[in-house]
Amino acid sequence: MRKIAVLTSGGDAPGMNAAIRAVTRYAIEQGLEIYGVERGYTGLINNKIFQMNRRSVSDIIQRGGTILKTSRCEEFIQKDYRQIAAENLEAYGIEGLVVIGGDGSFRGAKDLFVDFGVKTIGIPGTIDNDLSYTDFTLGFDTTVNTVLSAINNLRDTMTSHDRVCIIEVMGRKCGDIALYAGIGGGAESILVPELPFDEKELVRKIKTNQRIGKTSDIIVLAEGVCKAEALKQKLKDGGVTGSIKTTTLGYIQRGGTPSMQDRLLAAEFGIRAVNLLIEGKGGRVVGIRNNQIVDDDISEALAMPRKFNEELYKYALTLGK
Ligand code: F6P
Repeated sequence: MRKIAVLTSGGDAPGMNAAIRAVTRYAIEQGLEIYGVERGYTGLINNKIFQMNRRSVSDIIQRGGTILKTSRCEEFIQKDYRQIAAENLEAYGIEGLVVIGGDGSFRGAKDLFVDFGVKTIGIPGTIDNDLSYTDFTLGFDTTVNTVLSAINNLRDTMTSHDRVCIIEVMGRKCGDIALYAGIGGGAESILVPELPFDEKELVRKIKTNQRIGKTSDIIVLAEGVCKAEALKQKLKDGGVTGSIKTTTLGYIQRGGTPSMQDRLLAAEFGIRAVNLLIEGKGGRVVGIRNNQIVDDDISEALAMPRKFNEELYKYALTLGK
C-alpha cells in the first residue's frame, strides 16, 4: 500500500484533529502518501481529496472540531454514491481509508469495504461513547470533563439558593455521558435511557433530600430519556415544591480542547489504524478494551450488543445520597 486517505464523519468530537495528525504524520514516517478528504463522505463523493504533509497538521493537536470538516451524508446509504466515492479514490490510487467517526460512519466504511473492496479502518470518534466493542470513544473523556465543569458551576449557584437543577446532557440513546459526569459531579440522581425510571420514586427522593438538609439537588438527565423541561413539569405535577431550574448544555459539549486522555487515544488509535493498512488489512475498527488497544472486524464490532455499566450506576447513586 502506497497511498491512504483520512476523513472525519458524523458529529465532530474533541480529539479528531489529534487523530488526523497522528494518522498523517505516522503514515508519512512509514513512507506512505497521505490524503485528506474534506467534509466526510460528502467530500469523497464530490472528489474533495488533497494530499497532505507534516505541516498540514501543524498546530491542531489542541483544537476541538475537525480541520477536515465533517458531515452527516445521507447519500452514502445508496450504493450508487458509494461507487462514485470508490472510483474517486481509485483515480488517485488510494487503497486505504481511515474513517474517524461513530456508528453511522462505520456503517458507511463497512459498506465501502464489502461492496467495493476499499480497505477501510474505523477510528471511534464520537462524544456519545455508544460503540459496544470499545470501552471508550475519542472525545468522550473531554465531553465528560466539560459537563463536569458545568455541574461544578451549577452546584455553586443551586446550593446558594437551595434549588433543584435538571442538567440535560447529550449522548443520543446512550447514557454514558450522564453516568460518568453524574458520578464525577456527585449528582443526586442520574437518568439514562438504558434503565427505566420511576417518577414517583424520584419525587420521593427529592423530598427526602430537602428534608434531610441537602442544599442542592442535581439531576443529570441524558437526552435519550426526555427533555429537561418535560421532566421539570413531571416533578412539579408530582408535588415537588420549591424552585426547579433546568439547563440544557447542548453543543458546548462537543467543542473544546481535547483532554490528555483523548490525545493519547488519538495517537494510539491513529498509529494502529495506519499499521493495519500497511499490513494490507481493511474492514476493521480500532478501539480500547481493558486498557489495551485492540482491532476488530467492522461487521462484528457493529453487531455487538451494548452493555450499560449498571454497577457503576448503582455506586453513583449510593455516593450521591
Ligand atoms: O453524536 C453526537 C451528538 O452530539 C449526539 O450526542 C446528539 O444527539 C447529536 O450528535 C446531535 O446531532 P447534530 O449535530 O446533527 O445536531
